Amino acid sequence: MVKTSSPGKLMLFGDHSVVHGRPCIVTAVDYRMNASLSERRDDIIVLNAPDMNIENYVSSIKDLEKPQPKQARFVLTSVRNFFDKYGIRSGLDIETKSEFRVEYGLGSSSAVTASVLKGLSELFDVRMSNKDLFDLSYKTILDIQEVGSGFDAAATIYGGSLYFVTGGRVIEPIKAKELPIIVGHTGVKADTSKMVKMVYQRLAEEPERINRNFDESAKIVDRARRGIEEGNWKEVGMLMDQNQVLLREIGVSSDVLENLITAAKKAGAYGAKLAGAGGGDCMISIADKKNYENVKNAIEDAGGKFIDVKLNADGVRIEK
Ligand code: PMV
Repeated sequence: MVKTSSPGKLMLFGDHSVVHGRPCIVTAVDYRMNASLSERRDDIIVLNAPDMNIENYVSSIKDLEKPQPKQARFVLTSVRNFFDKYGIRSGLDIETKSEFRVEYGLGSSSAVTASVLKGLSELFDVRMSNKDLFDLSYKTILDIQEVGSGFDAAATIYGGSLYFVTGGRVIEPIKAKELPIIVGHTGVKADTSKMVKMVYQRLAEEPERINRNFDESAKIVDRARRGIEEGNWKEVGMLMDQNQVLLREIGVSSDVLENLITAAKKAGAYGAKLAGAGGGDCMISIADKKNYENVKNAIEDAGGKFIDVKLNADGVRIEK
């Protein structure tokens, strides 16, 4: 039996513009998605994913081409893509177990994809570099979601904090010793595909304005990378605010996000912004030590849920 685990992710800068050829900064978070895989002698795949309410779901290898139930899709599409790429066929027992709740939007889908692909490469002795794993994970995610930059796959595979450009054109580690970031969840589930498609629509309607917005975002990302490497949290906070203005302009913020962002700022955060697709899910803020607790409490008082995460987590790995 092979056991693997992969971290979740949190987008720090460059949300949405990274779908359109610009860079972003993403960090891996220490909630992990665990998978265990073993070979079977028959030609069926048996999936257990208790966190997704999946118990002994059976698919034959030839049925991997057919539409799969939503909760099983990332696992089974990963298996199909791995088998197709490496010419392997085998029955499998797969079990996944999540340390984090799907509703937080911290990247459980890309984490499960990476955990399963890493497990398959180990099980069948196929050498896959991180870039090979990224390419196959990204293909799997696009097969299912149709849209996306792949930043989530990069974060869960490489770990740490990354400077990332659309589709993995650039994937570079950022040296970020500590990141005093406070994460608040809105309680509202974001629909990432819907938000990404809406931004595509806006781009088609107003290409000049939206492209200008994305170019500004790219500049902010480059400055934020330096700020993070230098540990200049004041600067990083100011850049969060500027990034949030751009995200507001493309229409992806929401009242509930704005409410938590305002609360964090009032409590002394250097800056705050939404993190990810927008509409819901998480916001992030940054503060120095003396204001950290105040900001955390202000987010909770404003109706958000403080999420206690460690950033810069290790990427996908084999577990003993
Ligand atoms: O909602 P999340 O956390 O998966 O973030 C989506 C980030 C986008 O830039 C909007 C989409 C993407 O694939 O990069």
